[in-house]
Amino acid sequence: MIRRLLKKSEASEPVQESNAGHNKTYANASKNADCSEFEVNNWIVSEFIVDRLVPIVGTHPFPLTELTLMSASVVRFRPKAIFEWGTHIGKSARIFYETARAFDIACQVHSFDLPDDVEHVEHPHEQRGELVRGLPVKLYQEDGVTGALRICRKGKISDDKVLFFVDGDHEYGSVKRELAAIAKNHPRAKILLHDTFYQSPKSHYNVGPWKAVEEFTKNNKSYKRVSTNTGLPGMTLLYKAK
Ligand SMILES: C[S@@+](CC[C@H](N)C(=O)[O-])C[C@H]1O[C@@H](n2cnc3c(N)ncnc32)[C@H](O)[C@@H]1O
Repeated sequence: MIRRLLKKSEASEPVQESNAGHNKTYANASKNADCSEFEVNNWIVSEFIVDRLVPIVGTHPFPLTELTLMSASVVRFRPKAIFEWGTHIGKSARIFYETARAFDIACQVHSFDLPDDVEHVEHPHEQRGELVRGLPVKLYQEDGVTGALRICRKGKISDDKVLFFVDGDHEYGSVKRELAAIAKNHPRAKILLHDTFYQSPKSHYNVGPWKAVEEFTKNNKSYKRVSTNTGLPGMTLLYKAK
């Protein structure tokens, strides 16, 4: 089975820090928040992505479709806290931080990766969190879902204002366990998951995350699902309509 792994060359793809427009804030791009379907103003979100995000994080591992779903989720749901794993070099953490800042959303990003002595093919070691170094993003080293649930409980934030981003080991069993734990403890939280693209077996892709999402949504029919599905790696948003 071929697994999509973030190669070292991808991880260290040149990231050009640009100050162009860095302090610009954007108009509220959430649309029809009282309706059942997810919607944002795509033009405003696109302008933000092109001007602000791409110069910082590039398009690996998150292509434009996924940068859109990540930033649109923050813009639409205005979370007070985001819990994500794994941190790796900090691209997703930086994307969430920049989005909240640009759209004037008071939100704390918490990012988890495994301890240094835990073996994992993608463990970033000394590069862990380098894209958020010096920024007010909280970094932790422990199993993501375990730490996230503990800290989320302490923060006493309404479930509705919490966003989880699941981007750990991409195994079917892990994603299934993580989704179940989030839904049980924070039933109204929004959930974004990475590497959820489905392709038929001849592709030899790892479709474990897709399978976990598929089963979860069959058993939890109150969740709505928005997915990027034009190609790898694929991202899915799960949320409950009001
Ligand atoms: C694909 S990378 C994540 C990319 C990262 N979100 C980014 O934007 O740069 C997967 C990361 O998850 C970490 N990881 C794997 N299992 C984990 C777990 N159970 N808890 C926390 N982190 C985990 C790995 O060490 C690795 O750094």
